[in-house]
Amino acid sequence: MPQPDQVKRVAVIGAGTIGASWTAHFLAHGMHVAVTDPNPAAEAYVRRFVADAWPALARLGMVAGASPDAWSFHATPQQAVQGAAFVQENAPERADMKLALYAAIEDALEPDAILASSSSGLIMSELQAGLRTPERFVIGHPFNPPHLIPLVEVVGGKQTSPATIAWCLDFYNRIGKKAIHIRKEAPGHLANRLQAALIREAWDAVASGLASVEDVDTAITAGPGLRWAIMGPHMTLHMGGGEGGYAHLLDQFTSAFQGWWKTMRTPEVTDALRQQLIEGVNREAHGRGIGELSRERDALLVEIMEVIARGRAKG
Ligand SMILES: NC(=O)c1ccc[n+]([C@@H]2O[C@H](COP(=O)([O-])OP(=O)(O)OC[C@H]3O[C@@H](n4cnc5c(N)ncnc54)[C@H](O)[C@@H]3O)[C@@H](O)[C@H]2O)c1
Repeated sequence: MPQPDQVKRVAVIGAGTIGASWTAHFLAHGMHVAVTDPNPAAEAYVRRFVADAWPALARLGMVAGASPDAWSFHATPQQAVQGAAFVQENAPERADMKLALYAAIEDALEPDAILASSSSGLIMSELQAGLRTPERFVIGHPFNPPHLIPLVEVVGGKQTSPATIAWCLDFYNRIGKKAIHIRKEAPGHLANRLQAALIREAWDAVASGLASVEDVDTAITAGPGLRWAIMGPHMTLHMGGGEGGYAHLLDQFTSAFQGWWKTMRTPEVTDALRQQLIEGVNREAHGRGIGELSRERDALLVEIMEVIARGRAKG
């Protein structure tokens, strides 16, 4: 395996929402990125995406000595992986597609290259079955947009080697990511399971008439969501226990949480609920399209990340 700090060339397979954003991130860290996508329009999409993302990456101090033009577009994945020490795969979230892709490129990969899949919830043990070199295939799951959100979940399959997992954690952490090791395979890994628990209640709150779509969103953005960028759920509860910390909180609230859990249910996503959810976000967007909302989100994300970095640097 190459040294994680010696990686000069990476490949990005599948250049949609996630692949284009990974491309910007790898470029900002001075690597050459060989991009491939079966849709020829992806080349123009990546060019636009990198140009739009570059100012935010510069502001976060990531682009020193890097070029936004150090990438190439390839017609086939076999061409893109030539000479790449690391491959980030971002093909559609379908096991059959990823299985066919891995079988088609395995022989073209460099002998010591590692392939990480961005898959949001597929199980690597199933994707690597039947490969000749399964030990170098791993999940490296980012959060959208990967060029801004630091988290990457690294999950090995049954046949992934511990060395591959350690390599990926080191590689991602060296390029500004916060990589965590998820120790067991589970659909949705960890962070999406946490989100799924919240989304279940967010949908049911609308379905049961507890609150409107807009008020559910406000309940998070004006409430616990503000704290979650600073402290995770465990540490937040530790603080909620006052001087007695988590122990006091657990004494005081465990039975309350257990009682609330009993009243929670998985909503049926009927056509009527779908309609309510869609109408709710349309009201909340006040006519802003996805492009405008993304720009707003990304600008504020950069500011939040800067504030947190400054605060942490001060200690
Ligand atoms: N969108 C998200 O929020 C998000 C977040 C984290 C991870 N992911 C994961 O990233 C991966 C890609 O998701 P996305 O949202 O970027 O999807 P997308 O639909 O935006 O992009 C997928 C790209 O793959 C290309 N493609 C189609 N067939 C292909 C093939 N056989 N080989 C290579 N590329 C092919 C498509 O042309 C398209 O450009 C999925 O595994 C998804 O679970 C998505």
